[in-house]
Amino acid sequence: MTQVTVKHMWKEYGGHVVLENVNLHVGDHEFVTIVGASGCGKTTFLRMLLGIEAPSRGEFLIDGRPLPGEPGPDRGIVFQRYSLFPHLTVLQNLLLGLELKDAPLTGRLFGAARRRALDKARTLLAAIGLEAAANKHPAQLSGGMQQRLSIAQSVIREPKILLLDEPFGALDPGITADMHELIIKLWNAHKMTIFMVTHDLKESFALGTRLLVFDKVRIDPQAPEAFGATITYNIPLKGQRSAS
Ligand SMILES: Nc1ncnc2c1ncn2[C@@H]1O[C@H](COP(=O)(O)OP(=O)(O)O)[C@@H](O)[C@H]1O
Ligand SMILES: [Mg+2]
Repeated sequence: MTQVTVKHMWKEYGGHVVLENVNLHVGDHEFVTIVGASGCGKTTFLRMLLGIEAPSRGEFLIDGRPLPGEPGPDRGIVFQRYSLFPHLTVLQNLLLGLELKDAPLTGRLFGAARRRALDKARTLLAAIGLEAAANKHPAQLSGGMQQRLSIAQSVIREPKILLLDEPFGALDPGITADMHELIIKLWNAHKMTIFMVTHDLKESFALGTRLLVFDKVRIDPQAPEAFGATITYNIPLKGQRSAS
């Protein structure tokens, strides 16, 4: 279980204020959806949660402790564009997620550890409906299947926090219902905290336990970079938590 707190956080690049005075508390097993205009700092916010970008002021706390200033296996991210390795099979792509976590130096697991990893990968492949495609390469999969695999590649590492940056934005609208079902299933099975950026307001309401709207409260037409966006709405939602 993981709680995330953001206190008086500012992010600027040179004189360009991207985010200003962001304050937030997210409880255990929440599904946070984030909407806001293009360029208002949503991806930057996720990059800070991942630990590949530092706030200029203020702090991020995970379970009350400062967020480590580098990525770790407790946080995973999925982008709009697939991050799969084209020369590896579906199963190998999934195993790689585990190998980089458990054997970061060699990237290889052996013996009992490898058998455990294979078991885990096969179980997850079944959960995402790609069992039959285990030996295919990413280019042989549809966009939706590739994105299922990208999500599974993060989930297999059992992150406490999963970051999704417009994960379904590049997909055929016809398959979003399937993707929603999948992400809710994984979120309930693994009890992660999810932060998902989306430009689809309907999606943000359908999936989230909390909706954040990022927007500017101050605008200077003479100096568009003088003020940043902040959280203007923080709306608790019902979400789709399983009963257990
Ligand atoms: N590394 C960087 N250096 C300078 N400016 C950046 C950097 N990363 C992002 N920005 C700027 O921060 C703003 C917010 O970007 P971003 O977080 O990608 O917005 P969003 O995801 O909401 O569309 C943009 O104006 C962008 O140009
Ligand atoms: Mg973005």
